[in-house]
Amino acid sequence: LAGVFTAKKLQGQHLLITAGPTFEAIDPVRGITNLSSGKMGFAIARAARAAGADVTLVAGPVHLPTPHGVMRINVQSARQMLEAVQSQVGNASIFIATAAVADWRPAEFSDQKIKKDGSGDVPALAFVENPDILATIAQTDAAKYGNLYCVGFAAESHDLLKHASAKRLRKGVPLLVGNIGPATFGKDDNALLLIDDQGTKELPHASKDVLARQLVDEIAQRLTAARG
Ligand code: CTP
Ligand code: CA
Repeated sequence: LAGVFTAKKLQGQHLLITAGPTFEAIDPVRGITNLSSGKMGFAIARAARAAGADVTLVAGPVHLPTPHGVMRINVQSARQMLEAVQSQVGNASIFIATAAVADWRPAEFSDQKIKKDGSGDVPALAFVENPDILATIAQTDAAKYGNLYCVGFAAESHDLLKHASAKRLRKGVPLLVGNIGPATFGKDDNALLLIDDQGTKELPHASKDVLARQLVDEIAQRLTAARG
């Protein structure tokens, strides 16, 4: 019963969160994407809702049910994801970027399906860089003046601490969360390394649901410290 009287840790907060991969179309029937399952982001959305936050989840193409009480916006491409985030961020006090946004998209979209021409030649695909959603949001006044707490994730194949620390500074976010260990995409468990201006903290191997609740606690503590 005691729990009933405990103030929920994110009561009054509005979380905006991205999750899943993006899909960058080449033609009407093909595109490039990645193996992100969206599980970590959806678990965080669920945990934050349980902690009392209003939650808006901007999701790339994934096969996951919408967490109860969470407002979901489905998108495909990185540019659509940025647009959805920008349309919602005015209400947010926390922004968490878990999405595995495609770094590049095909430079041109073909309205018609690209056909083999029988010669054995392959199409030459050119790419352009996608917008960096997290870096864009972290540079807004709301983020710079402390009204929007931004959290990034980092997927690194090697030298996690070095790359993730550099990424935190480059993106200009107070907290960056690294996935520890090999290929966490699609799995139900993980381990996380939290990096902020105080140093690092490890959340040891556990299910993504457990890690999501721990991460929500960590973020709530940092918000209290930052905002009093
Ligand atoms: N991110 C984003 N928009 C992008 C690329 C990344 O919002 N176009 C966010 C991710 O959601 C994640 C963080 O930035 O929170 C780091 O993503 P990551 O792919 O690890 O870093 P990149 O900056 O893309 O660098 P690289 O992939 O080369 O390591
Ligand atoms: Ca990337």
